[in-house]
Amino acid sequence: MESYQSAKEEIKRAADIVELIGQHIQLKRAGQNHIGLCPFHSEKDPSFTVSPARQMFHCFGCKKGGDIFAFWMEYHKVPFSQALRDLADRYQVPLPNKRLTRSEKGKMELKESLFKINEAAAGYFHDTLTRSEKGAQGREYLDKRFISGEIISEFLLGYAPDEWDGLTQFFKRKSIDTDKAVQAGLIIPKKNGGYYDRFRGRVLFPILNLRKQIAGFGGRVLNDSLPKYLNTPETPIFHKGELLYGLHSSYKPIRENGRSVIVEGYTDVLALKRHGFHEAVATLGTALTRDHIRKLKGYAKEAVVVFDSDAAGRLAVIKSISFFLNEGLSSRVMVLPEREDPDSFINKNGLDGFLDLLNQAIPTFDFYLDQKLAYVANGIEGQIDILKEILPVLLELDNVAQRSFYVRRLSEKMSIPESVLLTELRKWEVNHSLRGDKSSLRDKLSSSRAKNIDDQYLLNLFIHYPHTMDTLMNHGCKVLLSDSVIMGIFDYMYDIYTREGETKPSDILERLQEDTARERFREAMMSPPICPDEKVDQAVKEFEEKIQKLKLAESIKRAKEKGDIDALNQILKSKSNRQR
Ligand code: CTP
Ligand code: MN
Repeated sequence: MESYQSAKEEIKRAADIVELIGQHIQLKRAGQNHIGLCPFHSEKDPSFTVSPARQMFHCFGCKKGGDIFAFWMEYHKVPFSQALRDLADRYQVPLPNKRLTRSEKGKMELKESLFKINEAAAGYFHDTLTRSEKGAQGREYLDKRFISGEIISEFLLGYAPDEWDGLTQFFKRKSIDTDKAVQAGLIIPKKNGGYYDRFRGRVLFPILNLRKQIAGFGGRVLNDSLPKYLNTPETPIFHKGELLYGLHSSYKPIRENGRSVIVEGYTDVLALKRHGFHEAVATLGTALTRDHIRKLKGYAKEAVVVFDSDAAGRLAVIKSISFFLNEGLSSRVMVLPEREDPDSFINKNGLDGFLDLLNQAIPTFDFYLDQKLAYVANGIEGQIDILKEILPVLLELDNVAQRSFYVRRLSEKMSIPESVLLTELRKWEVNHSLRGDKSSLRDKLSSSRAKNIDDQYLLNLFIHYPHTMDTLMNHGCKVLLSDSVIMGIFDYMYDIYTREGETKPSDILERLQEDTARERFREAMMSPPICPDEKVDQAVKEFEEKIQKLKLAESIKRAKEKGDIDALNQILKSKSNRQR
């Protein structure tokens, strides 16, 4: 346990939280901190804050926060043990044999072994494709599709021969646990015993996660048979809604150019890559999810969606629009000529042709309006239906200038006066904020009222200027508190302070047991001090006066309740003396 703790400390010393988080999220410098859009909840204005001085992050919106380990666990959805291993690996800190709970260990080992099995399978498929007699058909197919040897090796493409047990036999030879191979979705048990391969006669595209582990596969048939693509089913390590094909290789160019292009197919990513366009990622045959967009916005300032111009493609874009708006990732839509996808298009028109079209991509919202308006039914009813759909989407636009720009366009296109639209919009806004957003409104009100401002100020003062604690605690500053969590923190801090002398806030944070207490404490740590150094004495004095007043008011109240006239006179006299 001891050396395990010290490995953790060593990793923390080796790592720089700004650099580490900066590889996953775009951070901007803001004073002493760095800020960015929170990857853990939807927001349009950055409240995700990283402090190099404290080596901590904290989101003032969703309150998630902590050190590099907390970040890694939350971002990659792994338990602490895994985060420790990943980061130890990354910063080359040797780990002692760690202790885990049995179920943690079990889950981790299962995932590890599934990744290993996938890796073994990918090796088998890749070797079959590149070296074996049995891979000839696969090679021929990829050749026909202009997928080069370079791409084949970079993306570890493979081929599953058209037989029932090629992989099953391979696993047997390698003594790989068949039960695990079933869980990896690679082989399937037969009714009467034995197993058969899931992927047969298909070209395989391994799907890597951001840690460059093989999470699953997509497999394409070589002819027109169905299904065209077969993917790994959901497994403990393969979640389609979270993975983007190609991101493990494109995230660097995406960050450098600030732009990402979202396509539908594996082959689209590869064709673009072969032509020298490195910023593409593909969804895995599923709709774009919020998770996808959150991942992307860590690297990209803008996403360009290239979807097929068929009805399904259009619908997909329309569905994704509120995700983009909510996540604050600006987005455009690139429209390809009918019956083309990025793969076929770039093979015909080359990189320049593709870039030309990319530059003409239109903002998603314009695309959306055009689509909607193209199908306006005639007459008032049709118009009302359209407005019902468009107004709420317009309301999601934060930027006022942008909103009025679209109101104008809408007004032109629908021949409805702008003023009418604006009135309707305002009505919607009121209804919306009273209905849909009620809970968030309630949150806002209760957090500003119930959490007494003195609680926050005092906690802030004690954290940034610990020496003030002695004076104020002796004056009985707890009478100013109304938040029981903060009262608990004060007791704890003061106890440590009196026993051990001045203690670092980060140490106290580590020792606080309760989540809510840690959250409050971290938030105060990450907030700037309520006053500059030279004003600290004055702040202390103000708090002292406040305490005094409160105590006085209370003793007056008590004397009145008891009907103790003498005491009351006494109090009032000393009060007027002091005021003089
Ligand atoms: N897809 C799938 N299952 C299918 C068809 C498609 O999972 N039966 C997914 C795959 O991820 C595929 C993407 O949807 O890459 C796009 O499908 P489609 O446009 O039909 O295929 P292309 O990528 O154009 O594939 P190809 O060029 O090989 O025909
Ligand atoms: Mn295609």
